[in-house]
Amino acid sequence: MLNILVISDEAKELYGLFKAEKASSEGQNASSSASALPAGRREYDIAFVDLDTENWRERLMEVRHRMPVVAFSRPDVRKAVEAMKLGAGDYLEKPLTADTLAEVMARHRHELLTHKYGFDEIIGASGPMQEIFGLIKRAAASESSVLITGESGTGKELLARAIHRWSPRSDRSFMTINCSAIPDTLLESELFGFEKGSFTGAQYTKKGLLELADGGTVFFDEIGDVSPLFQTKILRVLQEGEIMRIGGSRPMHVDVRFITATNKDLRAACQRGGFREDLYYRLNVINIHLPPLRERTADVALLAKHFVTKHASKRKDVLIKGISPEAMAVLTAYSFPGNVRELENIIERAISFADIAEIFPSDLPAFLRQEPTRPRAASPRLKDALADFEKQTIAAALIEAGGNISRAAASLGIYRQQLQRKIKEYRIAI
Ligand SMILES: Nc1ncnc2c1ncn2[C@@H]1O[C@H](COP(=O)(O)OP(=O)(O)OP(=O)(O)O)[C@@H](O)[C@H]1O
Ligand SMILES: [Mg+2]
Repeated sequence: MLNILVISDEAKELYGLFKAEKASSEGQNASSSASALPAGRREYDIAFVDLDTENWRERLMEVRHRMPVVAFSRPDVRKAVEAMKLGAGDYLEKPLTADTLAEVMARHRHELLTHKYGFDEIIGASGPMQEIFGLIKRAAASESSVLITGESGTGKELLARAIHRWSPRSDRSFMTINCSAIPDTLLESELFGFEKGSFTGAQYTKKGLLELADGGTVFFDEIGDVSPLFQTKILRVLQEGEIMRIGGSRPMHVDVRFITATNKDLRAACQRGGFREDLYYRLNVINIHLPPLRERTADVALLAKHFVTKHASKRKDVLIKGISPEAMAVLTAYSFPGNVRELENIIERAISFADIAEIFPSDLPAFLRQEPTRPRAASPRLKDALADFEKQTIAAALIEAGGNISRAAASLGIYRQQLQRKIKEYRIAI
């Protein structure tokens, strides 16, 4: 389902037209707005900006980095040119008709399609990420505890938030507790709160985080770092669904959903005796593992483009258009030990350094260009390495072609049927 934003004084009258478009094969969802961008649950996929509306310049600049923009107005060449300079990708003359609308939507199909390669704010086109999107939906619908595992910077917190946002608890609070940041001595009062006078210095009654999260979701980040004492306390909450303020006289029932995350191997920690096994099983009802970015290279280009869009709005002076093919090649060849976070930092930095509209290899950190070859897991078999490379190349070509198999086949220099066979063989999601 695609979301269309219409910025116009005549939005009401146009609504029918966009709704008709919705009924067409694409299935769009039109919302109209004459004021600032409404903060909905999800972003819009494309914006239509009416240049006969007051403040259209500001409106256009507000949205241009976040979605493709189509400008329209009564015939006016000067305005059309100005809108294109400000970042509109298309211009239509009034009156808008169903035909012109369908045509422009088709033209933007490629850009719109890329929105399919993600879930909520999580971007990903690779097979593993597609699987994860399915898991998120299932986890959101269930009340079970979720344990998210993965290296640092792979997007564990992002995923935890998405699960909450798509769960029936979404209108209640999402409370993050960074376990490694809270010292043990403070933990109990932070989590459970305290009654006035329960200890020296308790001059007021304080609600704990678990009480505040009642009805919502609690996210315990870095759960692998917690002490045995903390483990016992959390286990008790999970088992009994009850908490007691320090100095309190009766337990209180709390209804919280637990999501935890760690970059440690908790199973191994259990075997070593560093983590309680009973707690591990309670937390790990649903496990979602985020693979490192180097194992899903097909996502690099898409993520890089996403971060360009995300951070380009910081540059008021230059309209950052994107990443040159040469810079993209450097990025896809890199192994990203810091995962998605590292990629985001690299793009953010490149944008602040780039003094032209496109990011070139010279805007990327030097160490990135020097990395000779991607470090591979201990001497892979040639056959596996080649298959891996083939899979990544195909996935990248499919993204570039907006999911169009014939176009992707043409750019890869193989027949359509051949490509279809490969897609099936490698189980590439399109
Ligand atoms: N698939 C993704 N799509 C878009 N942004 C992502 C994705 N994965 C990660 N990010 C971004 O990368 C950054 C790091 O993500 P996040 O904080 O969720 O990682 P983490 O796994 O919790 O890392 P750590 O273990 O170091 O806490 C964030 O800015 C996040 O928005
Ligand atoms: Mg984190």
